[in-house]
Amino acid sequence: SGYVTYDPGFKNTGATKSAITFLDGEEGILRYRGYSIEELADKATFLEVAYLLINGELPTQIQLDSFANAIKAEAVVNDSIVKVSNAFPKEGHPMCEIAALVGSMSAFYDVDGNEDPEKSILRLIAQLPIMATWWYKKSIGEGINQADTSLDYCSDFLQLMFKTPGSSYQVDPIVSKALNKLLILHADHEQNCSTSTVRLVGSSHASLYASISAGINALWGPLHGGANQEVIEMLEAIKADGGDTEKYIAMAKDKNSGFRLMGFGHRVYKNFDPRAKIIKKAADDVLSALGVNDPVLGIASHLEQAALNDEYFVARKLYPNVDFYSGIIYRALGIPTNMFTVMFAIGRLPGWIAQWKEMRANKEPIGRPRQIYTGATERAFVEIANR
Ligand code: CMC
Repeated sequence: SGYVTYDPGFKNTGATKSAITFLDGEEGILRYRGYSIEELADKATFLEVAYLLINGELPTQIQLDSFANAIKAEAVVNDSIVKVSNAFPKEGHPMCEIAALVGSMSAFYDVDGNEDPEKSILRLIAQLPIMATWWYKKSIGEGINQADTSLDYCSDFLQLMFKTPGSSYQVDPIVSKALNKLLILHADHEQNCSTSTVRLVGSSHASLYASISAGINALWGPLHGGANQEVIEMLEAIKADGGDTEKYIAMAKDKNSGFRLMGFGHRVYKNFDPRAKIIKKAADDVLSALGVNDPVLGIASHLEQAALNDEYFVARKLYPNVDFYSGIIYRALGIPTNMFTVMFAIGRLPGWIAQWKEMRANKEPIGRPRQIYTGATERAFVEIANR
């Protein structure tokens, strides 16, 4: 029925019009609502950026306070969701658990499907970080903490993670500031795999919770958000292997090896990823401020230099992406490796929400790609006895 364009991976398909994030892959430019990522990462707080993405403008102090307070008011998770979390094995991957817990929010908060999406938005921003810390507490055999509404968003997350219940805990401002920067850098990235998933699921008018849960699952894959965990595992493997970066570069170039240099390459950025530039500097700053000497930083830097001087990577315009150095910072902050992608999800949440809202506000039609059929032509049914 008519002419269908074939575009596997949607490399050349603009599936929507969007006023949220501008990305120029040739020039390495990223802006949220017109503001450069460099300035936002340097000067804003994560909640300010969340407000900007979701509402279109930077908040005034009064608007920001009221947004932050509305989020704090939702920072108590329904008790039964704790039970759902406890039913998950502690060996399971935390991305699986948070996708399920976010999916379950529909059953607890939106039974009739009539919850005001503005309420769902506040609950998600308030509760995703809380639920994410449960997996960690379970993994180390500690009880969970309650939100401390006297703290800012990032500091409260750190308290939820690292405070041993019953004892006192002091948030290190260096750690909190670094986390703020990382979350801002992850907050939106136009029509990537997980965001497209959120929009596609939402286009059927599925609930915000259902759409975000789908987005979390899409983010989990190693070619997308899961790359940050894979990068550290790769760097560790290289370290254990005597630090032979050349061997891994050779493997990445060999198409039969099945190995890719994790944290390298990007569908859209073909000169550099501006987020990677900021993160690389932040990694140096944070590690020295915290007095952490992580040997994988040296391996990362060596690998980067080797790749940037190699014809294979140069010809294909493969550069370090956001995930290449972020894990090194997360590790210095004390976040366990298999929670790196969870941190990405917490950062990306406002972007997913903004994109979902925009899609609904613009009354976009249900997403429904076409195909080029390559199967059998018509044939007669064969009775089972005759097959
Ligand atoms: N190592 C080795 N070769 C690579 C790599 C890599 N990391 N990335 C791409 N290539 C090669 C690829 O084999 C292909 O070569 P050829 O033209 O000879 O067939 C060429 O470069 C183009 O690659 P592609 O797979 O067609 O490009 P894509 O736009 O479909 O994929 C990507 C982009 C990010 C999935 C890919 O570069 C990749 O797998 N990178 C490693 C995983 C990663 O770091 N992902 C995080 C992406 S950024 C943040 C996020 O999305 O979460």
